[in-house]
Amino acid sequence: MTKILKSDENGRLEAAEILCRDGIVALPTETVYGLAGNANSVAALNKIYQAKGRPADNPLIWHVGDAEKAFDLFDLNSLNGCQKKRAELLAKHCWPGPLTMVAKKALHIKSSLPSVAVRVPKDSTTLAILAHINFPLAMPSANLSTRPSPTSALHVLKTLSGRIDAVVDGGVCEGGLESTVLLIDDEKLTILRPGLLSKQMLEDIVDEEVKQGKNAQKTLSPGQAYLHYSPHVPAIALMSPEVAQNAWNDEHTIIARKSDEAWLRRKFGMRHAQALTLILPDEPEGFAMKLYNALYEAESRPKNQLALIAPPTGEEWVAVLDRLARSAGAKGVC
Ligand code: TXA
Ligand code: MG
Repeated sequence: MTKILKSDENGRLEAAEILCRDGIVALPTETVYGLAGNANSVAALNKIYQAKGRPADNPLIWHVGDAEKAFDLFDLNSLNGCQKKRAELLAKHCWPGPLTMVAKKALHIKSSLPSVAVRVPKDSTTLAILAHINFPLAMPSANLSTRPSPTSALHVLKTLSGRIDAVVDGGVCEGGLESTVLLIDDEKLTILRPGLLSKQMLEDIVDEEVKQGKNAQKTLSPGQAYLHYSPHVPAIALMSPEVAQNAWNDEHTIIARKSDEAWLRRKFGMRHAQALTLILPDEPEGFAMKLYNALYEAESRPKNQLALIAPPTGEEWVAVLDRLARSAGAKGVC
């Protein structure tokens, strides 16, 4: 049985108690819901991997309550002065928030990897729970492996009900897309996973170039190599509006920006009464916030193919396009 806890003080205390007993609890964050367990406990970590069905070689992000605790997890001696300065600037501007920093781990961390990924989440419920406990929380997204990340407690229960001890219902996540994973101990800052903080935002903070680590992703951030964000539908394709006529006229489920939906309607006319069209906001922040919910909603038509109408390319759409491509990649892109 998975308990549903409120995000009030009682719920937070109960979540903290479960975590202290090596239990696993889904918690809200400003990005997506995370599946939390004591990062120092092998028993809790095993439960997370088992509940998610996550490949054992895909490491977890460690979550702590403030920057000081975060830096305590890195081997600071391995960072040169410049790298330290960048990390401090980023922590000052981005934490708490959707940035995960990766660097060589501190000696006291027992894991087989030489590095550790660390983030200070922003959600007040999860920060309060972190304040109740005295260990970091390992928190992958709270979904069964390969499925879309959850942005509500309901999404968590869709794939993990009965597999985890509890979920704290903190409402809908305000960001809706995962954190940006950034390698900080290379010559240049390198993005391993695009996320809510764009390359431009990071460059504005550090006032220097940040690398989009396309080739580094698979080797340095193992999660990038796996299937992801797959709703249960027979086929998914990512396509530009110009080639979407067949999908539009057919009974495909369509996920499209508001302006693209309007364009498609003008160009190709009304859809079948039975066809489901999920309309997302035009700007990247709004689109990101609603995307995973739309992927789960597409499952209400389990027999229909899904067409994802690609938003424009451009710096501010990089993270969204990454998720759309990987969602479609799981079942074939057209
Ligand atoms: O927004 C987020 O980051 C959410 C919330 C819950 O914090 N968490 C999340 O975790 O997305 P997960 O496990 O779904 O994705 C973590 C990503 C994976 O791609 C993993 O490979 C990478 O971070 N990662 C974890 N530890 C790493 C490390 N030491 N070096 C490189 N990449 C690492
Ligand atoms: Mg995930």
